[in-house]
Amino acid sequence: MAAKDISVQMPVHVAIIMDGNGRWARSRGWPRLVGHRRGAERVKQIVKACPDLGVRYLTIYAFSTENWKRSTEEVLGLMTLFSRYIEREAEGLNAEGVRMRFIGDRGPLDGRLRRLMDGIEERTAGNERLNLTVAINYGGRNELARTARALAAAAARGDIRPDEINEEMLSRWLDTGDLPDPDLVIRTSGETRISNYLLWQSAYAEYEFTPTHWPDFTPEELASILARYSMRDRRFGSVKA
Ligand code: IPE
Ligand code: IPE
Ligand code: MG
Repeated sequence: MAAKDISVQMPVHVAIIMDGNGRWARSRGWPRLVGHRRGAERVKQIVKACPDLGVRYLTIYAFSTENWKRSTEEVLGLMTLFSRYIEREAEGLNAEGVRMRFIGDRGPLDGRLRRLMDGIEERTAGNERLNLTVAINYGGRNELARTARALAAAAARGDIRPDEINEEMLSRWLDTGDLPDPDLVIRTSGETRISNYLLWQSAYAEYEFTPTHWPDFTPEELASILARYSMRDRRFGSVKA
């Protein structure tokens, strides 16, 4: 019998919309922030599991440009959680070979959080085992508008010519300029929408929507989603020979 091709298609870059923390907590009669805290615990487990599952890039949506519409208490609680996560996890992430980066508009963020973000980016810059990117105050439209502004300013200065702006160049100027496009976007909590996440980058991503709320999402569920992904036929507009 001829040997079968057993090479398995695995995603290099997985992007996750971590949704459902609030509902997870409320359904138990707890404040929404308890759900966010549990969600942060899940992030640690998923980050640990990724390299062994063959995922080299993990990009997670932590706070959108629209999430400022929430109560001051929830927004401040989330910002505190981000700072604490960086402070507490920096050493462990570095030891695990994780390179941590952030995408999104940092301008409106608190100065202390920004310094922590810059610090861990710098400290982990040489790591290669897993590229963890956290989207904070991120919105796909905001990113495209900021990038358009930066390109226009560069053209006005004479640093670039308008006619050299193409898809490849725009990709490089985005917050995600150093990352490959996501192969797979996962959203938890049963909502089937994108909510302004990686609009440009996900043009040809595969999507998975699971009813599981983020605090209940396990490495085992991720593994089974990856197994389903491996069966998908990605054509990118072409047809099979
Ligand atoms: C996702 O959980 C985390 C953030 C958006 C910060 P939610 O807070 O949106 O939880 P639900 O969707 O209200 O349950
Ligand atoms: C998307 O979730 C943003 C994050 C997960 C950070 P939301 O809960 O904010 O999205 P909508 O409002 O349900 O679309
Ligand atoms: Mg939500």
